[in-house]
Amino acid sequence: MAQDSFLDPAMPDIIEQWRAYFRLLELQPSHTILDVGCNTGDADRFLLRLYPYVKMIVGIDNSYSRVQRAQARLLAEYGPGTQCSFMQAPAECLPFPANGYDRVLCVEMLEWVDEPEDVLREVHRVLKPGGVALVIHTDFDTQVFSPADLGLHREVVHRFTDTGPDGTIGRMLTELCTTAGFDEVRPSVYPLINREFSSQMYSQQVFEMMVEWIGGADHKLYDELQKWKEELNIASESGRFFYSVNRNICLCEKRK
Ligand SMILES: C[S@@+](CC[C@H](N)C(=O)[O-])C[C@H]1O[C@@H](n2cnc3c(N)ncnc32)[C@H](O)[C@@H]1O
Repeated sequence: MAQDSFLDPAMPDIIEQWRAYFRLLELQPSHTILDVGCNTGDADRFLLRLYPYVKMIVGIDNSYSRVQRAQARLLAEYGPGTQCSFMQAPAECLPFPANGYDRVLCVEMLEWVDEPEDVLREVHRVLKPGGVALVIHTDFDTQVFSPADLGLHREVVHRFTDTGPDGTIGRMLTELCTTAGFDEVRPSVYPLINREFSSQMYSQQVFEMMVEWIGGADHKLYDELQKWKEELNIASESGRFFYSVNRNICLCEKRK
């Protein structure tokens, strides 16, 4: 989604969000970490910046071009020989033995797979007993933009949510993770909040995505969205802008 690339140029709201996610992991120097659906590896490079002492970070993604970009960016920032690496692999069939990782991240990717249950069972399998998985997904129906014409707001957010593969999977995470066999699943919500509507904030990036996804084929709606965008810009300049969206979090423990 819009926040896939958040380090360069820096998106301050997404950087803060990842700091909060990583704190939940209580990382130790001995920890090995797997990132399932790593995209171009921004989260893993950020993790390495914050926790340079961790033993190993592996990112997997089924997109060859994204893995190549992740490797190139890692090399450009750290040179060869870090404890971080990326590989192309399907999340439904992870190429690792059971009980190998202390921590597994699975963030904003379950919407894109046909069988999220299979991915979560794999996450559970590769996690060590005593390990923790952090499974996170946005529920796009929870988006709030202000100011707004409420009728237009509801239409746009609902249509955007329903246009993606599964825009409300966030609210299903607790059930999905429990079914996957974790001994304890602790749900929480990270509320991402913007008070500014600008190109380096999530709200504007997701707004542009909504324009592209649902405004492209509907000229009337496209024009309404452009007018709304102008209002949001004016509100931002005068300190009246507000945006929020919920990221659903499950902290999943495997005890044995
Ligand atoms: C929206 S991005 C999320 C990236 C990152 N985890 C984040 O939170 O910014 C979803 C990623 O999952 C990857 N993906 C989708 N289906 C996958 C699958 N079956 N196996 C592995 N990766 C997959 C996509 O290629 C994409 O890079």
